[in-house]
Amino acid sequence: MMKATFLGHACLLVSTEEHSVVIDPFLTGNPKATAKPEDIKVDAVIVTHGHGDHLGDAIDIANRNDCLVIGVYELVTYCQRKGAKKVHPLHIGGSYNFPFGRVKFVPAWHGSAFVEEDGSIVYTGNPAGVLLFMDGKTIYHAGDTGLFGDMKLFADLHPIDLAFLPIGGNFTMDINDAVEATKLSRPKIVVPMHYGTFPVIEADPSEFARKVQEVCPTTTVKILQPGESVTL
Ligand code: NI
Ligand code: MN
Repeated sequence: MMKATFLGHACLLVSTEEHSVVIDPFLTGNPKATAKPEDIKVDAVIVTHGHGDHLGDAIDIANRNDCLVIGVYELVTYCQRKGAKKVHPLHIGGSYNFPFGRVKFVPAWHGSAFVEEDGSIVYTGNPAGVLLFMDGKTIYHAGDTGLFGDMKLFADLHPIDLAFLPIGGNFTMDINDAVEATKLSRPKIVVPMHYGTFPVIEADPSEFARKVQEVCPTTTVKILQPGESVTL
């Protein structure tokens, strides 16, 4: 049995009986977070890109758990410089079998740089989406992205059980584009994310649910409040 718990914004905790992985653990400073970094017990931390609302507490959580930060090469090199003890570089199109399961990075149309406290900007490579294969299930975490047609390509190759798609607009897909992304990726279950955390990404998840139900009858929409889970 696999449990996917939404921890607010774009943070997802995936647990099986044996393993746990967290993606984009932005908890400190996240007004919607219901968990603290010290609560997170995981085998790995996956980060989609270097923006603060995704990198978040990744280094702290990885070091507390003595586990890997997994991200694109430039991002994990940056994490090492910031104190991450264990990292694993991947890149878009690449995948690797970890003890907890397989991770494959897919494209995301976005930016990826970390803005330091002094305002300097550090390039952290290409942004990525994540395909996570654990316990016979496939989870797609889209990261921050605009809509693109190749979602259909990798969903054809790797049928998706559960997708987390951004709907908040401004920085990512809005509701209508996320509905198109659902049509392309045809997940069994889709969970909207990356909305409502800040005023500029306000969106109504029930509008997303209604529109998906109209055009994607094979997909179930689950709206999760931070702390809530779906079980696969
Ligand atoms: Ni971003
Ligand atoms: Mn973001």
